[in-house]
Amino acid sequence: MAVSIKSAREIEKMRESCRLLEGVFNHLAKMIEPGITTWEIDQEGEKEIRACGGVPNFLHYQGYPASICISLNDEVVHGIPKKGRVVQEGDIISLDAGLIYNGYHSDMARTFPVGKISEEAQKLIDVTKQSFFEGIKYARAGCHLHEISSAIGTYAESFGYGVVRDLTGHGIGTKLHEDPEIPNFVCKGRGIRLQPGMTLAIEPMINAGTWEVEWLDDDWTVVTADGALSAHYENTVLITDGDPEILTLSK
Ligand code: CO
Repeated sequence: MAVSIKSAREIEKMRESCRLLEGVFNHLAKMIEPGITTWEIDQEGEKEIRACGGVPNFLHYQGYPASICISLNDEVVHGIPKKGRVVQEGDIISLDAGLIYNGYHSDMARTFPVGKISEEAQKLIDVTKQSFFEGIKYARAGCHLHEISSAIGTYAESFGYGVVRDLTGHGIGTKLHEDPEIPNFVCKGRGIRLQPGMTLAIEPMINAGTWEVEWLDDDWTVVTADGALSAHYENTVLITDGDPEILTLSK
């Protein structure tokens, strides 16, 4: 397994790619309201990515047919935008987006409430986000990768939630998915030792019920096996000499 260490020049390109993605993402987040279709959000996302000089990295990735992954309620990740899929009051909606700029990839995801949602749904969204921040306490040079994984998983499970095991975070750079795989649960061994210049897409996927998931017949959409809600929170993160730099989250 080869984990790439980015040079100062490459890090600057990663920052730029992530900064542009964050702009696109914030624009898409403002579109979310009851009545909009997932297809409209995807179309706008592709347009915005191209308008800032980027290329949608999800489009045609292993045959994925859209630019933005949009997953509602019990859909965990990789939901395919559709003309007939209308977002409703009370839904939770996960957007996962990425782009390539100057040869460098960025990747981020968030789950949003649509109008008024249940307290349980909001708690799931909040805990999923916080699990990421628990994890990145260990996103430091000298720590080991699985310290991040354990911190995320232990925190989420302390609320009785199921941590998805079939999908993981990943290294990111000149490819969307680079080594290492980044599990969101306690695992065997310490994992690699983290070094400055590593760029990681850390992305807890947390279910309100069981951790088990299934794939729909479209071969993409991942859903919870028990139909419970699921939330997602992802940033592209740079390991430095000190605190991690969250490249897709400006201060
Ligand atoms: Co990712």
